[in-house]
Amino acid sequence: MTILIRGGTVINHDHSRRADVLIEDGTIVAVAEGLSAPAGAQVIDAGGCDILPGGIDPHTHMELMFMGTVSADDFEWGTKAALCGGTTMIVDFCIPAPGESMLKAYQDWRHKSEKAACDYSFHMAVTSWTKETHDDMEAVAKTYGINTFKHFMAYKGALMVNDDELFNSFSRCAALGALPMVHAENGDVVFRLQETLMGKGATGPENHAYSRPPEVEGEATNRAIMIADMAGSPLYVVHTSCREAHEAIARARAAGKRVYGEPLIQHLVLDEDEYRNPDWDYAAARVMSPPFRPRKHQDSLWAGLQSGSLQVVATDHCSFTREQKRLGLNDFRMIPNGTGGVEDRLLVLWTKGVNTGRLTKEEFVAVTSANIARILNIYPRKGAVAVGSDADLVIWDPARTKTISAKAQTSRIDYNVFEGIACTGAPRITLSGGRIAWQDGELRAEKGDGQFIARPPFPASHVANSTWKEFSAPRPVSRSMPVVP
Ligand code: URP
Ligand code: ZN
Ligand code: ZN
Ligand code: ZN
Repeated sequence: MTILIRGGTVINHDHSRRADVLIEDGTIVAVAEGLSAPAGAQVIDAGGCDILPGGIDPHTHMELMFMGTVSADDFEWGTKAALCGGTTMIVDFCIPAPGESMLKAYQDWRHKSEKAACDYSFHMAVTSWTKETHDDMEAVAKTYGINTFKHFMAYKGALMVNDDELFNSFSRCAALGALPMVHAENGDVVFRLQETLMGKGATGPENHAYSRPPEVEGEATNRAIMIADMAGSPLYVVHTSCREAHEAIARARAAGKRVYGEPLIQHLVLDEDEYRNPDWDYAAARVMSPPFRPRKHQDSLWAGLQSGSLQVVATDHCSFTREQKRLGLNDFRMIPNGTGGVEDRLLVLWTKGVNTGRLTKEEFVAVTSANIARILNIYPRKGAVAVGSDADLVIWDPARTKTISAKAQTSRIDYNVFEGIACTGAPRITLSGGRIAWQDGELRAEKGDGQFIARPPFPASHVANSTWKEFSAPRPVSRSMPVVP
């Protein structure tokens, strides 16, 4: 199957140029001006639009059993939603249930994800520390194609791990050439604040935010960074939502540490006032961890993307219906944590980022695909419009408008946290694996079209870390000793 895309401007993270793109059997085989169409090729006229690498969402939870229920978008509908919004790959989290092995979790996720309509990959969560965990991590990294391990510093009594477990696991990651990730919130403090609020009869969804102030995130982010440094490991901080956490990451990077930060599109554009909405369902729909923050934090996150101290924009797509959210009607602690966004991320980020001048088009590509692919070790197969890369592309019309509404969305839930945002800049065509997956509102990709993308370990940062530690270690001074008569 051959496709030639003509008349567009290719935008990569490092340069843009007028160029045609030739695709054969799912791979980009030429990027150049004035390409002629081989016999039998389908020609797509890009009509002066931009041609971007397909979005990669490095943080989703499809069909996740969590807080007494299962997230509403499964791999089929979650990935179809992704394609409608120009995202051609997601990375989901295998999360072993308490006492369950990583192998079992991996098999469960491989099974659930057979329905995926776009490409996908996995991170593995470390939810406890035993000899089995230590041993299994090697198989996960070397044979399952998973080079990232996620740690929850929150959700006390459920998924949370302690500092000794973090240090053990980060050290193991360093030995394996894998990258540890953290959900950075101080779970012990959150637990106490929740108890205090509930004790005062404060049961509404706004208390979710009050029990998770920025300090619990700033503290945990800083702690994880220091533990990773002591373990000789780089670190990836998921859903960085506040100034305190961003500053910890920026400080670490300025000190030469290899630390990455991932703000979510929700935290970039929505603020804490959402929880003060008098409609319980409205406020509960927006309950996620970390919570939406007062507005000043958004400025910090945007500045991080602009300056490069934050590298990635994700969604943490973990959607629950209104009815599911009502599990916490009388107790905010029981509201399933999570919001959607996989369909909206690119449109909202373009509108609020590129159209305001906060991001260039190239920076947009960096934070929605290229940086992610590089950090996760799948670049340039993914995240680039280049010869040899997978033909996962978006023909992006910077003038196309769309107002976000739950009524028109592909996600299975009955609201959208971005409802009413008027976007300018939207996909015209999404190509996934060299095929048209979505065009002008028509979804063509089918359940099962996606492939699992294995991601091998990437020891380079670890080798650099340990080489530098050795190089800069204190050494005894060799000197001639005075002769004592
Ligand atoms: O509230 C959230 N973020 N739900 C999904 C699980 C997680 O913490 O990432
Ligand atoms: Zn199966
Ligand atoms: Zn999390
Ligand atoms: Zn998450």
